[in-house]
Amino acid sequence: MDLSKRFPQKRVIITGAGSGIGRVLAHEFAKKQWNIVIAEINDNRAKETADQIKNLGGKAIIVHCDVTKPADIDKTIETAIKELGGVDIMINNAGVSAGGFMEKISLEDWNWILDINLKSVIYGCRSVIPLFKKQKSGYIINVASYAGLVCLPEMSSYNVAKAGVIAISETLRTELSPLGIGVSVVCPSFIKTNLMDQFRSPDVRQRNLAQGFFNKSIMSVEAVARCIIRSASRNKMYILPQIDAKCVWWSKRHFPRLYFKSSAFVYKKGLVEKFLGVNPDA
Ligand SMILES: NC(=O)c1ccc[n+]([C@@H]2O[C@H](COP(=O)([O-])OP(=O)(O)OC[C@H]3O[C@@H](n4cnc5c(N)ncnc54)[C@H](O)[C@@H]3O)[C@@H](O)[C@H]2O)c1
Repeated sequence: MDLSKRFPQKRVIITGAGSGIGRVLAHEFAKKQWNIVIAEINDNRAKETADQIKNLGGKAIIVHCDVTKPADIDKTIETAIKELGGVDIMINNAGVSAGGFMEKISLEDWNWILDINLKSVIYGCRSVIPLFKKQKSGYIINVASYAGLVCLPEMSSYNVAKAGVIAISETLRTELSPLGIGVSVVCPSFIKTNLMDQFRSPDVRQRNLAQGFFNKSIMSVEAVARCIIRSASRNKMYILPQIDAKCVWWSKRHFPRLYFKSSAFVYKKGLVEKFLGVNPDA
């Protein structure tokens, strides 16, 4: 069912709405006159998104929110209750990216990515579920990544964080179903956004590879955002906007032995960097 019909009060919280997928999701909701709470750590970017929302016909409320702080997430939800009377959709989207060989990723960087990409989703869900139970309605959209489904090499910390987000979403999909509360998990492959700005890796190699993937990406962030909203309105569990992600995940599920054999071959022969046209160690 169309989300605006299902939730006529049209209230959505989007974490990390100051850029990329979060910002463009905000645009799409604004076009349908939704009330959007921007929960963002970067105040300047949050303000830009708020101005764009207003120009598109939506209402914007900014909450300065660091998603690694449970108190900031609680404050975001309290603001939505005070200003809008509740929340219909919670989109746990804020995130960063990282790469590196397993043994070289520092423990500090492990904590950094798990805090921002995984624990933030735990905080977001813990904080909003009591409200959704009280309202007897609501929808959670967690933005993970296809990296959490297929676990690409040299990306262990990012893969683990996103696999955790998928596990939370799968758990809640059943746990919240008796109450009619919806849950979807978004698993995109590479999309050109500002995600590389905060990218961390011990070697330049992973940055070059990631940049190569971003340069090859063809689906626009607008098309991804529209796909997310359309899929949530159809109550889809797994949202994979791009065909490449769908194909790789399909082959891993149906032919796991062949999948791991062929990915090892491709990795050993350096075929990915050839395809991307990059010299990762340069
Ligand atoms: N771009 C891709 O290729 C891609 C692919 C798969 C998944 N994703 C996921 O999509 C989500 C959005 O990423 P994006 O590509 O739009 O990147 P982006 O960098 O353009 O946007 C991320 C936003 O999150 C905000 N943010 C970062 N740390 C925060 C914190 N501690 N508290 C609050 N806000 C914070 C940033 O300020 C930024 O506005 C992320 O979870 C990312 O992992 C992106």
